Amino acid sequence: MKPNFDLSGKVALVTGATHGLGMAMAKALASQGAILAINGHTPSKMEKAVEEYQKAGIIAHPYLFNVTDKIAVDQAISKIETELGPIAILVNNAGMIQRTPALEMNPDDFRNIVDIDLVSPFIVAQRVAKTMVRLQQGGKIINICSMMSELGRNTVSAYAAAKGGLKMLTRNLATEWAKYNIQVNGIGPGYFATDQTAPIRVDGHPFNEFIINRTPAARWGNPEDLGGAVVFLASEASDFVNGQILYVDGGILATIGKPAGE
Ligand SMILES: NC(=O)c1ccc[n+]([C@@H]2O[C@H](COP(=O)([O-])OP(=O)(O)OC[C@H]3O[C@@H](n4cnc5c(N)ncnc54)[C@H](O)[C@@H]3O)[C@@H](O)[C@H]2O)c1
Repeated sequence: MKPNFDLSGKVALVTGATHGLGMAMAKALASQGAILAINGHTPSKMEKAVEEYQKAGIIAHPYLFNVTDKIAVDQAISKIETELGPIAILVNNAGMIQRTPALEMNPDDFRNIVDIDLVSPFIVAQRVAKTMVRLQQGGKIINICSMMSELGRNTVSAYAAAKGGLKMLTRNLATEWAKYNIQVNGIGPGYFATDQTAPIRVDGHPFNEFIINRTPAARWGNPEDLGGAVVFLASEASDFVNGQILYVDGGILATIGKPAGE
C-alpha cells in the first residue's frame, strides 16, 4: 500500500503565515489539497500575503489575531470552524527572537518571548484540540521548534528557553492526546534563507562562512525545504509518529563540525 500524503479537504491553520517559513509551509500544505486558514497580526502584511498566495494559485483565508491573546484565539478559531470547518491540521509557526546578552536581558522582555514562543502555541493547540476531541476526528499539531530547542547560543537566552520548552510541550501533549488520535510533533528548522538573512548571505561575510562550514549540506536551507516535513507530519503517512521533533537543518545537529583547515 502506498503511504498517504493527501490532505484534500482538510482544514489547516498556519499561524504567522504572512511570509517567511510559515508561508512556505502553508503553500506546501495547500499543494496537497488542504484548505488554508492563515494567521497574521498585521493587516497590511496580511493583505499582501493573500495576494501572494493568489499569485501561486492558492486561496488563503485570512484570520487576523494575536496568538498571545486567549480570547482572540478562541474567537478566531470559532470563526474558522464556522466558515471553513473543524481544523484538522495546526501548524504553530508564529514566533519571535530577541538577541540580547543574558546579563542585559530585561525579565519583562524575557517573559514576552516566552509568551509568544511557548505559551501561545499552548493556547492555540489547546483550543484546536478541544474541537478535535469533541468531534472524535483526531488531528495533527505541528510545533515549529528550532535548533535552539537543543543548543545554546550567545544572546538568545529567552528564545532558547522557550524553544526548548516547546520541544517538551510537544512531547507532553503527544502523551496526553494520543488517546484522542491527535499526533503532536515538531519541526526544527536549521538556518534558512529568508528576507531577514539576505544581507549576511553573501560570500565573505563571516556568518555566511560559518553556516557553510558548519552545515554538512554546506548551504542555507530554502523555505521550500520544509515542505516535505510539514506535509509528512500533517498527513496519514505519519499516523504512528508522535512526540518527535524532525530537524530540517542540513545535518548541523548531527555533527560537531569540521576542524579548521579540513
Ligand atoms: N528563519 C529561521 O531560520 C528559523 C530557524 C529556526 C526556527 N524558526 C522558527 O520558525 C518560525 C517562523 O520563522 P520566520 O523566520 O519565518 O520568522 P518571521 O519573523 O519572518 O515570521 C514569524 C511570524 O510570526 C508572526 N507573529 C509573531 N508574533 C505574533 C503574534 N503575537 N500573533 C500572531 N502572529 C505573530 C509574525 O507576524 C510573522 O508572520 C518561528 O517560530 C521561528 O522561531 C525560524
